[in-house]
Amino acid sequence: MISLGQFQKIREKWGEKLLILGHYYIPDETIACTDRQGDSLALAKMAASDEKCEAILFCGVHFMAETADILANAPQKVAARGGKRIPVMLPNLLAGCPMANMASRGEVEKCWKILAETLDVEKEVTPVTYVNSSASIKAFCGLHGGIVCTSSNAREVLEWALARKKRVLFLPDQHLGRNTALKMGISPDEMVLWDRQAGKALGNLEQAKVILWNGFCRVHHQMTPAMAQQMKTQYPDAKLIVHPECSQAVVAQSAADGSTSFLINVVQNSQPGEAFVIGTESHLVDRLQKQYPDREIHHLAEKHNCVNMEQNTLDALLGLVEAWDAGKPYNIVAVPEEIAAPARVALENMLRVK
Ligand code: 13P
Ligand code: SF4
Repeated sequence: MISLGQFQKIREKWGEKLLILGHYYIPDETIACTDRQGDSLALAKMAASDEKCEAILFCGVHFMAETADILANAPQKVAARGGKRIPVMLPNLLAGCPMANMASRGEVEKCWKILAETLDVEKEVTPVTYVNSSASIKAFCGLHGGIVCTSSNAREVLEWALARKKRVLFLPDQHLGRNTALKMGISPDEMVLWDRQAGKALGNLEQAKVILWNGFCRVHHQMTPAMAQQMKTQYPDAKLIVHPECSQAVVAQSAADGSTSFLINVVQNSQPGEAFVIGTESHLVDRLQKQYPDREIHHLAEKHNCVNMEQNTLDALLGLVEAWDAGKPYNIVAVPEEIAAPARVALENMLRVK
């Protein structure tokens, strides 16, 4: 295994040709080795717009690497590079996202078929998928006039979708879907939960503006309204800020909710002495505590680390950089073009919105 010193030399040798991206939830020692960091939207945009890199090493989870591959290897970009694809590598292929796995293509196709028994789906329903989904689900959305969203642009995307058709099928995170729809003034009566295990809607579809898939993030799901209440009692001067993957009952008690970038910006723009209780993945909250020792920062819940993001260990990163430098890259995430093409349609719809 190469040392950190050798890693830096390899980095200097390749310069901008090797782009190392990192999501905010990965461990500190790995994020310290990345060129650029961001939330899901920012990272997708970096992958889509970088014109100098010849390879992307993505320290995040599988769906993020898929998204980077789809955007960086659009046919016109590959043609402009003389046929060269940009390999997108993941330090550890075990870094998946359980929420993304909560909506398979088969389950969504089945849902669409059942919805069609009650609704004129192609005319009435726009499928919207949170970026935390497989490329195949994004492709489904692209094939049915749909779109992708992230936690940074969910509202704008839902507005786009509801301006076109009267209903949305929101995949796979029920919490982001519900929290966003409520902010837009859509009432709980106009939302119906799709029970993917039972294969049926739990409510009146004809009344539904938003059909919510019943997926969730196991990390944010651990954060309960009782915890929020308890922390607010214990730290009455602290602002509770949370990620919108938290349940509506938690978001309702917060001062603000938003993507990882949003949460970081709130702390960054605060004054020394201000206090926060933060409801998101623990590596990010731990990092904010270290970066802002003059703020008082508390975790909303204990032990709420994302074990998938943790697969991005420093060793995994160094091993992959060593192999890439030696011309033997591995863990390349390449989405077949028959899936990538319709998925790209849904992603590009999103990039045009915000
Ligand atoms: P954002 O960084 O886009 O807020 O996403 C959080 C997340 O759960 C990524 O998996
Ligand atoms: Fe998936 Fe949740 Fe981990 Fe994000 S934090 S990668 S949504 S399991």
